[in-house]
Amino acid sequence: MWRGVIHQYRKFLPVTERTPVITLYEGNTPLIRAERLADTLGIRVELYLKVEGANPTGSFKDRGMTVAISKALEAGATAVICASTGNTSASTAAYAARAGCRAIVVVPQGAVALGKLSQAIMHGATLIQLQGNFDEALEIVRGVSERFPVALMNSVNPFRIEGQKTAAFEVCEQLGESPDLVCIPVGNAGNISAYWKGFREYREAGAISTLPRMIGWQAEGAAPLVLGRVVRHPETVASAIRIGNPASWKPALGAIEESQGAVGTVSDQEILSAYRRVAEREGVYCEPASAAAVAGLMKYCREGRVSAGARVVCVLTGHGLKDPQTALMSAPPLQTVEAKLEAVVRAMRLG
Ligand code: F0G
Repeated sequence: MWRGVIHQYRKFLPVTERTPVITLYEGNTPLIRAERLADTLGIRVELYLKVEGANPTGSFKDRGMTVAISKALEAGATAVICASTGNTSASTAAYAARAGCRAIVVVPQGAVALGKLSQAIMHGATLIQLQGNFDEALEIVRGVSERFPVALMNSVNPFRIEGQKTAAFEVCEQLGESPDLVCIPVGNAGNISAYWKGFREYREAGAISTLPRMIGWQAEGAAPLVLGRVVRHPETVASAIRIGNPASWKPALGAIEESQGAVGTVSDQEILSAYRRVAEREGVYCEPASAAAVAGLMKYCREGRVSAGARVVCVLTGHGLKDPQTALMSAPPLQTVEAKLEAVVRAMRLG
């Protein structure tokens, strides 16, 4: 039986016998071969989707949260705090509930997908909506955690990165080797750094012999890494990555440089189109921010920057059900018909 990432990867993680393990059995998510999606890329690639929406709270954050909460508890914490565009708050709230510890989550008002808000509320977190954006929220919760005995659960907490690197281990095990290319959405820039750390450690351990190129994707309106400067008012339909001043800026650039990777932008339109395409062609429903990775791969292929036969992994960071509003908003109008067979047949447009 799978017992979560701490149990599975203990020797790669900063835990001891004294660490209380708080887990929801996160990790062990599917790596799905995506041939029908690959067929639309205009070049033959071996494409896989790492479906992180299959984690217990529906995003990759759970991998880092199990380690961060366990270590916080070990250190005697009774309360935890985070700033979030939604998923971190959902995960913090759930793992804190499981640990019997208080969670305080600070989110930008009106900028968090409904499913994520509902998760923080259901798990009993103290939810504080900020009249400001994520970057301001993060600065504030950092200040709070310095002044009060509440442990910070954002990815500036190194234990989050430690847990999240286990996704790279899984990808290598599922493929039997390292991929050539990893496409991944970038917001606060922790996850790309975590994957890179994971790949490097797995190579040092002799589990793989090569390393992938890390290709990070930001939304056009929230692309500080690409622009090389802070974006004061980040904007994108992909609310999870609406971030203008990423905390892990330096390690992310390090990952990109060391892996001979790249960071690029995709437009909201490209994100929404990839979002639908993954759902329609593969039966995998991810959230808009996750689709940025696929939109990015599509762009990279169009630009002729991917070699034929490359083994590519797109990291689908969160579940589509977190944000049904964006799905409906970007879909054609719904049709309603009379309760008659003929009306349904007409609506089927069979000709
Ligand atoms: N994809 C999703 C679905 C996310 O929720 C996030 C970040 C990212 C990608 C980007 O990952 O920040 O490590 O570069 N969400 C954070 C949150 C910021 O508060 O839930 P990153």
